[in-house]
Amino acid sequence: MPVGDEPVGDEPVGDKPAGETNERRLVLVASNRGPVSFSRGEDGELTAKRGAGGVVSGLSSVASNANLLWVCAALSEADRTAARRAPNGMLDLDGNPGGSAVQMLGIPPTTFHRAYNTIANSVLWFVHHMLYDTPSRPQFGLAFRRDWAAYREYNLAFAEALAAASTAAGAAAPRAVVQDYHLTLAPRLLAEVKPQVRIAHFSHTPWAPTDYFRLLPDSIAEEVLTGILGADHAGFLSQRWANAFMDCCEQVLGAAADKDRQLVSYQGHSTGIGVHPLGVDAAELTERAAQADVEMRMAALREVIGDRKLIVRVDRTELSKNILRGLNAYRELLLSRPQWRGKVMLLSFAYPSRHDLPEYREYTAGVQRLASAIDDEFGSADWTPVLLQTQDDYARSLAGYRLADVLLVNPIRDGMNLVAKEGPILSDRNCVLVLSREAGAADELAGDALMINPFDISATAEALHEALLMSGTERARRRSSLAAAASAVPPTAWFQSQLDALDAQVPSCR
Ligand code: G6P
Repeated sequence: MPVGDEPVGDEPVGDKPAGETNERRLVLVASNRGPVSFSRGEDGELTAKRGAGGVVSGLSSVASNANLLWVCAALSEADRTAARRAPNGMLDLDGNPGGSAVQMLGIPPTTFHRAYNTIANSVLWFVHHMLYDTPSRPQFGLAFRRDWAAYREYNLAFAEALAAASTAAGAAAPRAVVQDYHLTLAPRLLAEVKPQVRIAHFSHTPWAPTDYFRLLPDSIAEEVLTGILGADHAGFLSQRWANAFMDCCEQVLGAAADKDRQLVSYQGHSTGIGVHPLGVDAAELTERAAQADVEMRMAALREVIGDRKLIVRVDRTELSKNILRGLNAYRELLLSRPQWRGKVMLLSFAYPSRHDLPEYREYTAGVQRLASAIDDEFGSADWTPVLLQTQDDYARSLAGYRLADVLLVNPIRDGMNLVAKEGPILSDRNCVLVLSREAGAADELAGDALMINPFDISATAEALHEALLMSGTERARRRSSLAAAASAVPPTAWFQSQLDALDAQVPSCR
């Protein structure tokens, strides 16, 4: 059901005036990355591009159907110029100035850099994915405090934009759905000025266990938690992450967390906790993967693979994706099961990500070094054991999914992982999914995947071996259940479930 078409309950909820239907109520979405971005061509002209990726494309289809305003940050100089040229940063979904679907906030570059690269991606992301090498990092000193002030400012810019949009909406208070770790403070900041707005927050990441979350300075840990608790509803991708959040609320803040009722109460305000697993729009993905550019790349890949078995992985080159251990597991497979030498290939898509951060640049170089070392060690004139692809090419990833015999998804920790869901939907060869138990997707896929501890390289190598040997009937049975589970909650339904949960949450005072 498209957002905005939901049935209206018997009783009005929240501040909705009598007679006001949900269809007409404005929905505000706030996220760092928006549905459109700009680049500057050689002629200096700006070109707009619609965003890609599960959530962005899912929410974009919602946005075109609903009374929805999407508030996002300008991420680059080109975005900032486009935002400046548009009245109040207002654009349509194709990036034309003067629309009413998108508001792009021209946050000053230094503030944006400190909030996005330094706090969101180098602190909060590291905490929730447990990525720190703790003997040396983190170190929370003066520079961190300065950057945290920028993160507050960035969150305030979003809260102010949401508040202004809600004032403009008039009598029917809108619902605001705030996305992710970039915007943990915005719910409280918004609630303070607009208590009548019903607010949901959604975390796309895992949530850290309390002892790890407590690496953050005490006052900052409290600010993050109370920031999210400013919302009426806090959503997570897995019950495991929701429980970890409730544990933090209880143990760090002393809040009352009721896991049976999925409710956290703190200083007189209650926040409902919900689990909303995100899946894939199977029809849309299948249609995209049948297009000519994908077929062309499949033909090229088939030439290289020949009649060998194919292991595929598709990742952003992201520290949490565990690409190095995945490569080492493949190396161990070739060492311990020599029968696979010359008979299998690993096609590893490792696309650029967050290259403003030195750790990510170093990680990418490490992945490249290890892939070449494996090729050196085992390769021959007619067999390259690892095909590493580092140029972003969506059509080629889809071709890889379709040709995979085995899909390796082994993150150290992952909020959900949509690769684990897209692969089985598209596989022409009934791919076997080897899946980390630390991915949120494990909740729905564990029964039909081969599950691994992502730190155990030997067990991963064994799982690859078992996957390569699995019988055709067993592969087909597992793949079809995986595909069904993966497409159970497409992005529009996922988003709708957050709105429904928000509407069902009894308002409490703040
Ligand atoms: C992944 C995560 C999201 C996050 C996004 C940001 O998709 O699952 O939680 O919002 O990355 O990526 P970006 O490229 O915008 O830093």
